[in-house]
Amino acid sequence: MIYDVVIIGAGAAGLMCAAQAGYTGKRVLVLDHANKAGKKILMSGGGRCNFTNLGTTPQHFYSSNPYFCISALKRYRPEHFVELVERHGVEYVEKTPGQLFCATSAKEIVRTLLTECEWAGVEISLSTKISRVEQQGDAMQLTTSIGKIDAGVVVVASGGLSIPTMGATGFGYELARQFGLEVFETRPGLVPFTLSDTWKARAAELSGLSVPVAVSAEGRHRFVDPMLFTHRGLSGPAMLQVSSVWQPGKPITIDLLPEENVAESLREARQATPKRQLSTWLTERFPKRLAQALLEWYPDHDPARPLAQYANQALDEWAGRLNTWQLKPAGTEGWRTAEVTMGGVNTDQLSSKTFEVKGLPQLRFIGEVLDVTGELGGYNFQWAWASGVACGQSC
Ligand code: FDA
Repeated sequence: MIYDVVIIGAGAAGLMCAAQAGYTGKRVLVLDHANKAGKKILMSGGGRCNFTNLGTTPQHFYSSNPYFCISALKRYRPEHFVELVERHGVEYVEKTPGQLFCATSAKEIVRTLLTECEWAGVEISLSTKISRVEQQGDAMQLTTSIGKIDAGVVVVASGGLSIPTMGATGFGYELARQFGLEVFETRPGLVPFTLSDTWKARAAELSGLSVPVAVSAEGRHRFVDPMLFTHRGLSGPAMLQVSSVWQPGKPITIDLLPEENVAESLREARQATPKRQLSTWLTERFPKRLAQALLEWYPDHDPARPLAQYANQALDEWAGRLNTWQLKPAGTEGWRTAEVTMGGVNTDQLSSKTFEVKGLPQLRFIGEVLDVTGELGGYNFQWAWASGVACGQSC
């Protein structure tokens, strides 16, 4: 079998790349070991796929080379993908500002991509195992469960390590190393935190409760989003965001009242309503369960005591607990639930225009396998589309 372009991975980046390469007249084959294309798309965004973010800029991505993503993101913007889904009759909604989700189901995105591939004459072979990829002069040869395949170009779009049950493997990293490329250490990103001992039990008691917070790690990267208490720790958009920048063993800082300077507020309340109790002040700001829990966590003062009897130091202690709550996660839920992989193939060794390996143009890497990871909110799919288009059009 001979193809101009063979793409490894029928996920977001691979399918997009395949359609684009097909439209340029190339003979394109997509291989995937999974029995279904776009499995991660289907489970994304709670089954509705947050397929892009209208506010995408390179600043929403983590990478050792922050300049690498600029070119592709500039050439294929969120509006381009919106135009594509509109052309395919996909209805969508803007949830949080800028975040576009399918109105009905993520299946619509997979349908769009598969239709594009069909129109572009792309062949797709699922449930196909790839055992070897070798350079053969100016071309490449793949040994697979459907036989040997010669390819002018091999595009690796095999994604990251998150959710192994959905088909994730380290195949792309192994292949990169085989061809002498550097692979930065990988770790789970956009993943819930686990807590240990006392804090785990406390979080479990509040499990299911969501509150708006601001969270930061290492004093940087402040994320203002909801936080969710879980049976094992903390989740919700705020925690997923900060998990991508969190260093194991280090604390995170949670501001439970991001809109309020608690030290000032409590002093004002003591002045204006000296008979009010701290518990009343807390229940005005938090769901009852959390207000109650806070008083139990910090039983150093009688909650029935009026604010007038609180010295400045005691108010400042509460300000610290509420505005700068330092908490050390035990770890994360790991690859089982992580939405993305931090780290990956070093982009310095690739062209940011074509995604080809410098000095080996017949081998390319796109999507999440690269050391480019977006924040939460549709950025990761936008990267998959943009890198897929840039690579596919230049194959
Ligand atoms: P992707 O993982 O999509 O595809 C890789 C493909 O390669 C898979 O089909 C896999 O089977 C195949 N493959 C792997 N190893 C192989 C091998 N050895 N041989 C052959 N094939 C192989 N992002 C976002 O922007 N908005 C969102 O709403 C969400 N939501 C979300 C929810 C959950 C639960 C997860 C896990 C992730 C998200 N994401 C997200 C992230 C997003 O899904 C991810 O960034 C993209 O799917 C990456 O696209 P790729 O094409 O690079 O990999």
